[in-house]
Amino acid sequence: MTKKQPNGVKESNQMWGGRFNANPSDIMTQINASIDVDCRLWQQDVAGSKAHCEMLVKQNIISEGDGESILKGLEKVAAEIENGEFEFKAELEDIHMNIESRLKDLIGDVAGKLHTARSRNDQVATDFRLWVRQACDDLVQKIDRLQDVLKSVSSTHEASIMPGFTHLQVAQPITLAMHLGAYVQMMVRDKSRILDCQKRLNESPLGACALSGTGFNIDREFTASNLEFDKPMENTMDAVSARDFATEFLFVCAQSGLHLSRLAEEIILWATPQFGFVNLNDEWSTGSSIMPQKKNPDAAELVRAKTGRLNGNLMQLMTVMKALPLAYNKDMQEDKSCVFESFDTLCLCLDAMSGMIETASFNIKNMRSAAESGYATATEIADWLVRELDMPFREAHHVTGTIVKQAEEQKCALDRLPLSDMQAIEPRVTDDIFNSLNLDKAVQSRLNK
Ligand code: ARG
Repeated sequence: MTKKQPNGVKESNQMWGGRFNANPSDIMTQINASIDVDCRLWQQDVAGSKAHCEMLVKQNIISEGDGESILKGLEKVAAEIENGEFEFKAELEDIHMNIESRLKDLIGDVAGKLHTARSRNDQVATDFRLWVRQACDDLVQKIDRLQDVLKSVSSTHEASIMPGFTHLQVAQPITLAMHLGAYVQMMVRDKSRILDCQKRLNESPLGACALSGTGFNIDREFTASNLEFDKPMENTMDAVSARDFATEFLFVCAQSGLHLSRLAEEIILWATPQFGFVNLNDEWSTGSSIMPQKKNPDAAELVRAKTGRLNGNLMQLMTVMKALPLAYNKDMQEDKSCVFESFDTLCLCLDAMSGMIETASFNIKNMRSAAESGYATATEIADWLVRELDMPFREAHHVTGTIVKQAEEQKCALDRLPLSDMQAIEPRVTDDIFNSLNLDKAVQSRLNK
């Protein structure tokens, strides 16, 4: 890792130690190292290096023989990492230098040719874009699964009446399928945001080198297409310093997590004895160590809480990037932990929600009686007055309010209020109004519009 300096007095970093006489202090090594975090980029780093090496050979910048030993060496390094035989070293700072250093152990000084016409600045930007690109696919797959779960629950509850709420007060009757369907649509947009982010990030920084490109006759189109990027990034300064792909990814994760937190909150409410709409499977609940009657929706509560991390990670990177001058700054090394954490967190939340909802059972009776008891069909009365009596809606609303008050006073449901009481309020009301108070009909009349 380190070698004797020509003066023989000090040792220094083999990657950049040429002009240094002293090794970094321990604390410097500690604050500088990112290997604990960016070791997750190893596959992307090997892929990027292979593409770069092939391009160097193709452009006659390095010989075919050197290229072959580098490629073989990279494969060996990859196998070592895969098999858990690789020793990551903090003094080698990051994944790029750890891999390059091991390559040198394996194939000798020719390893040093790999970094021709490349800098860690374009290298890390490339690796990170490749990683986030894959993460986008993984997230879409997990959202797909949750949507499938919601759709399958919905398909068995297309006629299951429940109250729809506004202000968390009973508003109008709906079906469970309608309610869950809203989340399916949120997830349609979450996926489209993720894919949009993926599309925008899919340009190759390779070849930008430190910041201004290189004098070597490189072929950026080749490396871009080899790594399945749409094209090389237009501006080299931008290529090494842009991290909006990462902040955008953090935002789409935060937004998706926010949607999950709303669903989680509803499940938490619905699982209370007061609502009694849903029973969570034991596998997805926990008990209390002191109160034997309790069955807590911990998974849903944690999904609700994880939004804090997702939002925090977005704020973290936005704050790191704010006012950073061009081009690369070491500050940007802090870009990965938040992205990795948001990805892991969102994956976990999506899996937890899928498992929890897949195994939950809904209490149709309680849902229906909550819809019956909350004057959820009041709007139907107003609509009947408008339709049958040609009453202006505002007036119908007022008349209906008086009818609801009457039902409240008699402590009865709207469809149990005697016709004569309604007629005392509006003489033109007929028996037909009761047809509109049927919950199923009320819901049906609104569907498919
Ligand atoms: N570990 C570094 C990072 O993640 C790699 C780039 C280092 N570049 C440099 N000029 N020191 O940002």
